[in-house]
Amino acid sequence: MIKLNDLYFKPFISETEIDAAVQEMVDSIADDFQDDIPVFIGILNGSFMFVSDFVKKYPKPCEVTFIKLASYEGIKSSEDIQRLIGLTQDLTGRKVVILEDIIDSGNTLEEVHRIFENENVDELKIATLFYKPEAYKKDFKLHYVGIEIPNKFIVGYGLDYNGLGRDLPEIYQLKTTQYMTNLVLFGPPGAGKGTQAELLKDKYNLVHISTGDVFRFNIKNETALGMLAKSFMDKGELVPDQVTIDMLNAEVEKNSDAKGFIFDGFPRTHAQAEALDKLMDSKDSQINAMIALEVDDEVLVGRLLERGKTSGRKDDADESIIRNRITEYYKKTAILKEYYAAQDKYFGVDGVGSISEITERLNKVIDNL
Ligand code: IMP
Ligand code: MG
Repeated sequence: MIKLNDLYFKPFISETEIDAAVQEMVDSIADDFQDDIPVFIGILNGSFMFVSDFVKKYPKPCEVTFIKLASYEGIKSSEDIQRLIGLTQDLTGRKVVILEDIIDSGNTLEEVHRIFENENVDELKIATLFYKPEAYKKDFKLHYVGIEIPNKFIVGYGLDYNGLGRDLPEIYQLKTTQYMTNLVLFGPPGAGKGTQAELLKDKYNLVHISTGDVFRFNIKNETALGMLAKSFMDKGELVPDQVTIDMLNAEVEKNSDAKGFIFDGFPRTHAQAEALDKLMDSKDSQINAMIALEVDDEVLVGRLLERGKTSGRKDDADESIIRNRITEYYKKTAILKEYYAAQDKYFGVDGVGSISEITERLNKVIDNL
């Protein structure tokens, strides 16, 4: 990840991929022009790196020149295109290829066509290394397109954000979600996970997503995903991970302005952990830590039996059921502990002590992330 001015960007298109795209464009243009000598016209500033790499690869004689237009302010395209340097040579009867670094709204391209209206060139072809189809609002034909990209702001390889980033040899994409703290919270039954989740949520302004609650909510409200999940449960089958992930996704989207999330009850398997990483990645974010409350078995048994006396929960009353639940927990979470430890994201926290002592230990971990 890199920071330019006030914004963060993540790696998006590598040098190798750019190089391959440029080569492909060179090949198809050279193929179309054969022995004609084309005039390549780069649109400054953004296209300087592309034009340079392009003409170095071009296998036959060609001419190179530039015009300079300006349209972007910050990360927004503007309608108002300024012509800073226009054509400086007569192009009558020539075959012209415009080399653009990127076509976004198409406003700049419209200005280019205006410039060529009265030039009497033999051919005018448009070549762009990057193209954002979702942003393009014009209907000028694009003859050669290197790489189609989603409608997100990029920098690097000539493209800038307020002047910075043009020098980067690869392309970076704007991170839209910034500074989220996403935690996966674990703890054996009786560890005090629920209590601590509530406190963390308030202190760090996080949204607590308990998978159990999300399921119950979707089923009770008969949402499409809830009904789908229920259809598996009714058959006695496990709900497929994708359905659960879709539900979590909906929950994350509902809270798109959150400072982060506490995931509770998910993931349970390696595949789910990977799916959660993918979900976070699609939100330009990531899981920062798996925090597990560690409490000795005997202490847990004691606590749960104590709770059983008043809670009325059957599974809290029987010692062998309690021990089973604890064993199950360790069996299931061992894989996840490994998964997150491999990414240096596993944090075990001593869960024995007063509520505030444990909260303090958790705060220390989170503040250090
Ligand atoms: P258009 O006029 O909206 O098609 O935008 C074309 C010009 O806007 C390009 O030549 C760039 O200078 C600039 N531009 C468009 N999208 C981006 C981007 O994602 N990053 C940096 N500059 C961009
Ligand atoms: Mg440009």
